[in-house]
Amino acid sequence: MKWHENLDEMMQHLAKTGGFLTVRDEDGKVNTMTISWGFVGYLWNIPQFLTVVRPQRYTRDFLATADSFTISVPFSGLRDELSICGRQSGRDIDKAAVVDFVPAKSVSSPIVAGCDFYYECKITYRDELHSSKIPPDIYKKHYDGDWHDFFVGEIVETYGAQ
Ligand SMILES: Cc1cc2nc3c(=O)[nH]c(=O)nc-3n(C[C@H](O)[C@H](O)[C@H](O)COP(=O)(O)O)c2cc1C
Repeated sequence: MKWHENLDEMMQHLAKTGGFLTVRDEDGKVNTMTISWGFVGYLWNIPQFLTVVRPQRYTRDFLATADSFTISVPFSGLRDELSICGRQSGRDIDKAAVVDFVPAKSVSSPIVAGCDFYYECKITYRDELHSSKIPPDIYKKHYDGDWHDFFVGEIVETYGAQ
């Protein structure tokens, strides 16, 4: 499947109900969290997914040492799971008891079973949004002394329901 196939449908579901950002760290621990914000496009002529994660998320710790992440987007169903993984931290609950992690095809981070759209990404870039460069009205609306880190990953696999 091409990386831009079903892109419109995937982005609509990601923005409205969310998707799972799943990461395996260098020690083999796995965590997932719900995300709604992300970009897809070309960087260095390579299709990439950019995800934005606040530094206080447990998943952010995993991304510090990981070499990959996956994006799993349900088009229907898994609503309770999206809600739990978007409100509770892996510091407090075991997310493997909430969703089923299954091995990905080409990266070490697993995917979440039962979704309709998947990206597997190899991390190519990490940086942070600088609060001084965010328009003041946006900063006031979306931030409370914090910011977002962003993580870019080369899309190495794209597929639908397994
Ligand atoms: C629909 C939805 C979308 C979300 N999108 C994001 C996002 O794009 N970036 C982010 O940092 N947090 C986002 N969150 C919040 C995290 O999912 C939430 O803080 C989660 O509990 C973090 O889990 P962790 O501490 O195990 O990483 C979202 C939450 C929901 C419910």
